[in-house]
Amino acid sequence: KQTVLTGITTTGTPHLGNYVGAIRPAIAASKDANVAPFYFLADYHALIKCHEPEKVRQSSLEIAATWLALGLDTSNAVFYRQSDVPEIMELTWMLTCVTAKGLMNRAHAYKASVADNEHNGENDADKGISMGLFSYPVLMAADILMFNAHKVPVGKDQIQHIEMARDIAARFNHIYGEHFVLPEAIIDANTATLSGLDGRKMSKSYNNTIPLFEPEKKLKKLINKIKTNSQEPGEPKDPTDCTLFSIYQAFATAEEIAAIKQRYADGIGWGDMKQQLFELINTHVAPAREHYDELMQKPQHIEEQLQEGARKARAISVPFIKQLREAVGISRIA
Ligand code: TYM
Repeated sequence: KQTVLTGITTTGTPHLGNYVGAIRPAIAASKDANVAPFYFLADYHALIKCHEPEKVRQSSLEIAATWLALGLDTSNAVFYRQSDVPEIMELTWMLTCVTAKGLMNRAHAYKASVADNEHNGENDADKGISMGLFSYPVLMAADILMFNAHKVPVGKDQIQHIEMARDIAARFNHIYGEHFVLPEAIIDANTATLSGLDGRKMSKSYNNTIPLFEPEKKLKKLINKIKTNSQEPGEPKDPTDCTLFSIYQAFATAEEIAAIKQRYADGIGWGDMKQQLFELINTHVAPAREHYDELMQKPQHIEEQLQEGARKARAISVPFIKQLREAVGISRIA
């Protein structure tokens, strides 16, 4: 069986980008009998970006409810919280000790923070950057390697992290013997980077997201806020340079895409196109949204599912970390 693994950081409400980049392909993969699915809430990762405990707690609940509402079958998938598997923390340290600092210097998230500081005229390029942020890719490598994942469905922004996980795994294997599978990213070319309200990548940090299960009226309002150019109805329009179209195609069938392209050529008005997009997304999410609203009223049920997932995860991580302890020379005398 192929192990497919992915996680979402628990720092906000799941949005359409998370859905098309990671959750939708992951749920599709979980229906394949040849796949062993491992999906988790990256709550240790949340502490890197968010020091508001209530926000992290609420986000964990929302993300868990999202996976369940979308029909994740937890009798097949191992669905767990990262923090319920302390072996991941232990593995993080083992990996930290074989990871070159130079590799971390090249990580996008770290480099972006340094660039921000420089842009803002800071004397200290590392100002406000924690060790958590700096070594974030090592924790992510531990998530992936703990369960020897073959495939990791993610959006494009995570590719570098998967490549780093491969590098780190190869380094560990080279020193201590073949313990880890080298993981590969699964990226859907059409939805690798979903655009947000302002046309930039949809991201919690840009404040431009459309939450996946936004109530219908709010969803409509948000879609009406998507930025467009100033072309008038009747003017032929270019779908390739249009945020509305790029989001539309992440949810539409091939026929729907062809039909809407024709309407662009015929000069569809932006108001009309926003209505089309709203209807498409709303129809797509409505059944799961109802289920989500119900689940959010049953945190106890969610907790039970996660604890069951933690038991299944630890049945693997506990013996594996023992093997790794032996490999690195910190095992106990028999
Ligand atoms: P996070 O929480 O930022 O995002 C979760 C997933 O959603 C994808 N994504 C997008 N895909 C397409 N278009 C977008 N606009 C968009 N925005 C977000 C992300 O690529 C990601 O797949 N470090 C990870 C979480 C993580 C993880 C892991 C993932 C921790 N350990 C191990 C895979 C394997 C993160 O912060 O993702």
